Amino acid sequence: MKKAARITITGAAGQISYSLIFRIASGEFLGKDQPIILQLLEITPGMNALSGVAMELSDCAFPLVKEIICTDKVDLAFQNSEYAFLVGARPRGPGMERKDLLQANAAIFSEQGKAINNSASKNIKVLVVGNPANTNALIALKNAPDINPSQFTAMTRLDHNRAQSQVADKIGSSVSSVENIIIWGNHSATQYPDLHHTMIGDKSALDIINNDWYKNELIPCVQQRGAEIIKARGASSAASAANAAINHMRDWALGTDNCVSMGVFSDGSYGVAKDIIYSFPCTCSNGSWDIIQDLTLNDFSKEKMKDSERELLEEKEAIQELLND
Ligand code: NAD
Ligand code: LMR
Repeated sequence: MKKAARITITGAAGQISYSLIFRIASGEFLGKDQPIILQLLEITPGMNALSGVAMELSDCAFPLVKEIICTDKVDLAFQNSEYAFLVGARPRGPGMERKDLLQANAAIFSEQGKAINNSASKNIKVLVVGNPANTNALIALKNAPDINPSQFTAMTRLDHNRAQSQVADKIGSSVSSVENIIIWGNHSATQYPDLHHTMIGDKSALDIINNDWYKNELIPCVQQRGAEIIKARGASSAASAANAAINHMRDWALGTDNCVSMGVFSDGSYGVAKDIIYSFPCTCSNGSWDIIQDLTLNDFSKEKMKDSERELLEEKEAIQELLND
């Protein structure tokens, strides 16, 4: 029997976690032979609801779940943690942009960065889901100076999955035949869904798909999909966000040769500013991610990538005092 893996999930009584926790507990993240300990964090007013989630978890009788820790103590939630899903944060409402949440949510991520630094495993892998995800991940990593910045990532996998699904629908093909989608930049309306490297079977996607549809329909659709869901559901995406979080962390932990989009600490690849969390095309092996290098970028792509970089630099400027720089 393998040693149990410690997994922290914040915002554990919220709507994303209501899907995420149960899928992780069933083995969809680390596999059906990996026992787990769930370390669930809520704010104090959320603890009653969290106790209900814990009762339901128990009622599922998942064989992989060895222990469930429910707490409002940040250090306890991250104690020896090896994987952290930072979900807990306020979601946006209709008419808001994700960056409007910056001031409301930023303090959460500086506190949690410190707790990760003090209490977690030095090998922890962190995924920030709470919005604005890229800049929150930057805040967390800057408050965890003893942890390598490469261990903090932000979620753009939902955008990646959205683009993949839209393309598959458009050409009447299966999603698995659509490869090498890239989301560049911020998880925001400036993100750039790039199809210039996308393949459908052995054909280039842009040889099959009409350029007008790509530029005037697909790009805005993916950029605005979160808002469209809020308008339709009256609440932000939850099951699809949980699904993307599992995709992201599973690929990172267990490896993938596929091109996957991940918000990672920029090393300056493709001329992107260093020291921001920017979504790049990545592959993962041995528990690490690598940015796919040497892709050719046309002027259209370069301009779109810059727009998103500019927004991330503005967001960084707005929370400079939380960065410990
Ligand atoms: P929700 O309001 O249903 O749940 C959030 C939970 O977090 C609540 O239970 C709340 O009590 C808890 N919480 C708040 N502050 C906390 C703290 N300091 N520590 C621990 N828990 C805390 O929201 P949700 O729908 O689950 O969304 C959570 C976040 O994820 C939002 O910011 C949302 O915008 C974001 N999101 C991101 C993506 C993405 O693709 N990156 C996708 C969907 C949603
Ligand atoms: C999403 O993309 O669905 C989430 O980031 C929620 C939102 O605010 O759009």
